[in-house]
Amino acid sequence: MEVAAAEARQGHSQVANTIKRLIDDAKTRETTPQKPVLVVPNRSELGTILFTRSSDTRLSDLTLPEKLASRLSRIMLEQRQQSRLREHGLRPRRKILLVGPPGTGKTMTAAALAGELRLSLSTILLEGVITKFLGETAGKLKLIFDTIASTESVYFFDEFDALGARRNQSNDVGEIRRVLNTFLQLLEKDDSRGIIIAATNHPELLDRALFRRFDDVLEYGFPTEEIASRILKSRLGRSAGKNLDLRAAVERAKGLSQADVSRAATEALKHALLHDQPDVTTADLLQSLDERIAAARS
Ligand SMILES: Nc1ncnc2c1ncn2[C@@H]1O[C@H](COP(=O)(O)OP(=O)(O)OP(=O)(O)O)[C@@H](O)[C@H]1O
Ligand SMILES: [Mg+2]
Repeated sequence: MEVAAAEARQGHSQVANTIKRLIDDAKTRETTPQKPVLVVPNRSELGTILFTRSSDTRLSDLTLPEKLASRLSRIMLEQRQQSRLREHGLRPRRKILLVGPPGTGKTMTAAALAGELRLSLSTILLEGVITKFLGETAGKLKLIFDTIASTESVYFFDEFDALGARRNQSNDVGEIRRVLNTFLQLLEKDDSRGIIIAATNHPELLDRALFRRFDDVLEYGFPTEEIASRILKSRLGRSAGKNLDLRAAVERAKGLSQADVSRAATEALKHALLHDQPDVTTADLLQSLDERIAAARS
């Protein structure tokens, strides 16, 4: 600043201004967060952070409320008709956030989208992505997005809030933000054909800014009586006894997740089969529901 002042006094106003501008620039650069330095992981490291499998799950395997089902159908339609959309400079929905409590069908939805679109399902193992070192974590995220750009698949970031939450406990807030910011930048830049699905049980941990980067945010919740009843019926199939009191079962299932309801039905089915019963009785079903309730409480 002294040099600038001296130049100004000598009438060299242009030089003085240039120096001042350089100082101002340097100051603003100091206050904006630095991008993490990328530590480029070895390609072979992909195996520890990405797990790819084929999926034969279908959307019809899921019992969903009408609203969710139609949002998923819309994603499917846009995906299947994407060349028509692209001809008009439009893009299909492909970045999707699933929000909701455990056991409500988020993972199953990712598998169903892959199954319907005949794509593989690649689950990102966040355990392997998040390390103590910011640069290393950022490098691994970059590697994942490079893979997304080169290989068409359904990419599933399960328990995606861990990206912020895990670090919350030990590291400073600035660092958490930077991991999430790195993810957001990569997500925003990504213009590939792959489908990116992120799932979380903890929407409150995530930044609002994050929600905006997704083409769709789908909210999952515990089953209504109607959904619980449909899950029981579809799981029991023809083994549901004629005298089965479905209403009593649905009443007992209150507060259980879709996963618990579904599992109770399967357990009752197994019991009937192994005890040579012709079909599942109300008592069997109520008992297996009670077991789920007890397990949920413990
Ligand atoms: N909507 C549903 N319709 C039918 N079955 C369901 C539904 N939701 C869950 N299930 C059953 O519960 C199991 C577990 O569900 P899923 O793994 O999809 O839950 P999630 O929402 O991913 O839970 P988490 O948050 O714990 O990962 C499924 O494999 C399926 O058998
Ligand atoms: Mg899941």
